Amino acid sequence: MGRSSILASLDLGSSKVCCMIGEISRNGDIDIIGYGVAPTTGIKKGNIVNIEAMVHSIGEAVVQAEQMSNTKIGGVLVGISGGNVSIVNNRGVVAIPRSDREITLHDVERVLQASRIIAIPPDREIIEVIPKQFIVDGCDGIRDPVGMVGTRLEAEVSIITGQLTAIQNVIRCVQKSGLEVEGIVLKSLAAKEILLSDDEVDMGVALVDVGAGTTEITVFRGDNIELYSLIPLGGDYITNDIAIGLRLPYSQAEAVKRKYACAMVSLSSDKPDIEIQSIGEPFSRKISQRELAAIVEPRVQEIISMVYKELKNLNYKEILAAGVVLCGGGLLHMRGALEIAQKILGIPVRAAKTDMYGYDHTFTVALGLLYYGFKQRSFVARDEVREKNTRSFFEKAKRILREYF
Ligand SMILES: Nc1ncnc2c1ncn2[C@@H]1O[C@H](COP(=O)(O)OP(=O)(O)OP(=O)(O)O)[C@@H](O)[C@H]1O
Ligand SMILES: [Mg+2]
Repeated sequence: MGRSSILASLDLGSSKVCCMIGEISRNGDIDIIGYGVAPTTGIKKGNIVNIEAMVHSIGEAVVQAEQMSNTKIGGVLVGISGGNVSIVNNRGVVAIPRSDREITLHDVERVLQASRIIAIPPDREIIEVIPKQFIVDGCDGIRDPVGMVGTRLEAEVSIITGQLTAIQNVIRCVQKSGLEVEGIVLKSLAAKEILLSDDEVDMGVALVDVGAGTTEITVFRGDNIELYSLIPLGGDYITNDIAIGLRLPYSQAEAVKRKYACAMVSLSSDKPDIEIQSIGEPFSRKISQRELAAIVEPRVQEIISMVYKELKNLNYKEILAAGVVLCGGGLLHMRGALEIAQKILGIPVRAAKTDMYGYDHTFTVALGLLYYGFKQRSFVARDEVREKNTRSFFEKAKRILREYF
């Protein structure tokens, strides 16, 4: 198979780095031919804080994936998130100059270029431009205007911007690991590819990714991204509370959490069957799941209350007709978490699938990036204008590299 049928992705998370290598099979499916995961301490609150630690973890994850696939990868599609990411809506307009008034691919390209023109502060950079709809002579809701007749073509787009230095740090880490950045994609857009159905997106849905150090909220409705927000709270805060509350070493607190933690006191057993040994105590002792839940529940409530705070700025009970989809390792496996979320938010909350094509939640973003990337590539093959957009999307990172390094 040609090289173009192989794509690699990197999810740089607060707790781990994931690398995945995919290949388009003969029947058009994506085959995962390699993957790797390495723990990391290089990211805090969604931002890179230790380049060396990040480079080390990226190297480890990539080597695992390369060995498994028996491939050497040159470049990767990287998922990013961050408190500094923001989304603005913009609109571009062009006139159709030809006498027959037929809209061509070239006109679509021109209008998409026009829609990219916004004043952004010098410390920010456009990550991605997502077309929402085209409008031909005032008639809206058009997804593909090519071949239509009109005098005025408008494009409505969402422009995702991020802090330049944060993007540069991501690029630097990948580059120092000996890889090229083929593209940068918002993590929640990648996760959306594999976690949300088209119906949910059309109706309005919030994807809430509770990770290790952050909780990322993205509200999708039709072609709009109604909200993007990153809260600096996640599953590691629960571990920390357990470590402090029970005076346990962090690693033991993490193990106890994973094995026994329940998010609701009322759902927990009061049998003292969890054996722990607190720091400074000579003997182990037994506690009940209820005692553990008494530590966990307030933190889970806090995380969900923060999500509520973000959502309440939208008219979310009306906008989120398909409710909330919870993903990320922070709460996904914890009994009672969905109930708490449902109670605080007052709308249906479902858990994302934990097994996607045989891969658990750890790989959601890495896998989603591959689907996202392959979709962009198939646009390239199908459509000349989209080819240019996709190229610019993939070339964005390269341009930043040229300009700043
Ligand atoms: N079985 C489990 N029970 C409870 N918590 C778990 C379980 N498995 C993993 N976690 C928690 O999930 C979190 C890691 O989730 P995830 O892999 O989604 O984070 P990440 O992507 O590295 O972080 P972020 O998205 O914040 O950058 C950790 O806090 C970990 O303790
Ligand atoms: Mg994550």
